[in-house]
Amino acid sequence: MAFIDKHKILERRATLLLVVSLLVVTIGGIVEIVPLFFLKNTIEKVEGMRPYTPLELAGRNIYIREGCYVCHSQMIRPFRDEVERYGHYSLAAESMFDHPFQWGSKRTGPDLARVGGRYSDEWHTQHLIEPSDVVPESIMPSYSFLAKTELHYADIAGHLKANAVVGVPYSEDMIANAMADLETQVDPDSDYDAFQERYAKASVRNFDGNPDMISEMDALVAYLQMLGTLVDFDLYNETENLR
Ligand code: HEC
Repeated sequence: MAFIDKHKILERRATLLLVVSLLVVTIGGIVEIVPLFFLKNTIEKVEGMRPYTPLELAGRNIYIREGCYVCHSQMIRPFRDEVERYGHYSLAAESMFDHPFQWGSKRTGPDLARVGGRYSDEWHTQHLIEPSDVVPESIMPSYSFLAKTELHYADIAGHLKANAVVGVPYSEDMIANAMADLETQVDPDSDYDAFQERYAKASVRNFDGNPDMISEMDALVAYLQMLGTLVDFDLYNETENLR
């Protein structure tokens, strides 16, 4: 009397087979799904992540408005060719304050996840004004109007608030100071200690080289220059061999 004979009992009775199949699938489902309800977070925490400064957030809004994501991704995959070209592969935590995330799906131009600090502010400004001035073979369109367009930021506190609603840890203090912080970040002559206390590692510079006006260029360059710079990968040695 082999096990296979007992199995016949099941196989010959369609309804019983159906009931037992359902039972097995249910157990499998419970084993896979239930633990997820007890996980607080599926994103591993990493040191160094902070919310965008008001100016960077304004720059990110321009990035989205102009559709830069149509040609650029912000997600370095863990493949050798990508890691060698762009740097450490992207971590989930690095886009945890992105609503919506900017992973993109097409690379007409290079990935931008770690473009921060790779070029000077002047390079970025000139590149956005006329890409082929700095990269002769470039097919990227010109965004010269950004340098001439005053940044509209009267509603920036509202943008911080909206992000706070979906879970970005903007404090009351950050929201209350949003406008002042935005102005501080483009003014190296200002007193920016409190600003940098709120936003660690945030650089204070005149990003577009024109101190007379806070332009959309200031905001976009501030955003590009911080991309991928927050996490210090020397702290995460176990991934060393992938760099
Ligand atoms: C039509 C596609 C297209 C669009 C839209 C586009 N780009 Fe590009 N971008 C490119 C291409 C192609 C390159 C590579 C040649 C070059 O450096 O100009 C590039 C290069 C870049 C680089 C240099 C990256 C590096 O690592 O060398 C940056 C920064 C950049 N783009 C930012 C932007 C921003 C910001 C926007 C939106 C305002 C934008 N791009 C919109 C195609 C595009």
